[in-house]
Amino acid sequence: ETVIKKVDENNIDIDIIREMAEKIRNGETVIFPTETVYGLGANAMDEDAVKKIYLAKGRPSDNPLIVHIADIEEVDKIALEVGEKAKKAMENFWPGPLTIILKKKEIVPNVTSGGLSTVAIRMPSNKIANALIRESKTQIAAPSANISGRPSPTKAEHVVKEMSGRVSGIIMGGDCDFGLESTVVDFSDDKPMILRPGSITKEMLEEVLGEVSIDPSLSKKEDNIKAKAPGMKYKHYSPNAQVYIVKGGENNVITKMNELSRKNHAENKKTGIMCMSKDVDKFECDYVVDLGKDYNEVAANLFDALIKMDEAKMDIVYSVCFESCGVGQAIMNRLLKSAAYRIIDAN
Ligand code: TXA
Ligand code: MG
Repeated sequence: ETVIKKVDENNIDIDIIREMAEKIRNGETVIFPTETVYGLGANAMDEDAVKKIYLAKGRPSDNPLIVHIADIEEVDKIALEVGEKAKKAMENFWPGPLTIILKKKEIVPNVTSGGLSTVAIRMPSNKIANALIRESKTQIAAPSANISGRPSPTKAEHVVKEMSGRVSGIIMGGDCDFGLESTVVDFSDDKPMILRPGSITKEMLEEVLGEVSIDPSLSKKEDNIKAKAPGMKYKHYSPNAQVYIVKGGENNVITKMNELSRKNHAENKKTGIMCMSKDVDKFECDYVVDLGKDYNEVAANLFDALIKMDEAKMDIVYSVCFESCGVGQAIMNRLLKSAAYRIIDAN
């Protein structure tokens, strides 16, 4: 049985946090909110507990987990060498949606690091997450709290629907602020490298750290077979519907989507369209989801939009395309995966 409790981030009920923290200490799994997406947590230092995470998600166990900490001092317990650049990044972006990869100490179990010699570390800014880690008196390993391959959960209802019965506890907080998973940056070599784009953008990192590179496999059209972050190679963010990205001039895209939608309708297939707020009235299809007014809103709404398309039982989904700069890079990274790299040119 899953114990499900609501907690208000601005008025945290510490008794609920302690009840959930006790589960973590007892080697059980607890889902909790973070500022990026909901996480499925267990004691990062307890092998058997971490195995329960993989089981609950149906996730391959060569995929390493992020170790969540409540205090910067905890880095020294789990990482071997913390260079100047890594320190700078922590000081500037923690607590927040940045994950830092460093060489790991022995104490981190291999199941947690997916057998790698490095470990991913993140200090979340969400106050519920922080309180849970603190009260657990350990570090919490946590991937996104979805079944492997599905869109990541950004609302409490998403996890209650998908994960009830699969974990010991669920803390229902509010909606996640950023809505895309943290930026993952590898600091285990001299030059920092982005392995997964997120809300902390390349531009923001470079302002503080100087040159930062991007894992070259991220810019390839095909799926990231040789991506440096093992998790990037798996099927990801896939709703039941077939997703397509439609690119081209604004009017061409609208015309093309409506044309395709009519064709689908004739074939008895339901069509959903994801677009910016200003265009919601321009489509003839079964269901339109408003992604927001700007890129930050799109990031926060993207996974929820994909989940809504499934709830509304759409067969085919078309999304507008985004520019690959700033947070748009992270949006396109997730969208391309959910679309299995299918792009339609409307021009
Ligand atoms: O925002 C987030 O990061 C969320 C919340 C819950 O904190 N967590 C999350 O975890 O997205 P997950 O497991 O879904 O993604 C972790 C990513 C994967 O792509 C994984 O392969 C990569 O980080 N990763 C973890 N440890 C690594 C390591 N030592 N070296 C390279 N990549 C690593
Ligand atoms: Mg994930």
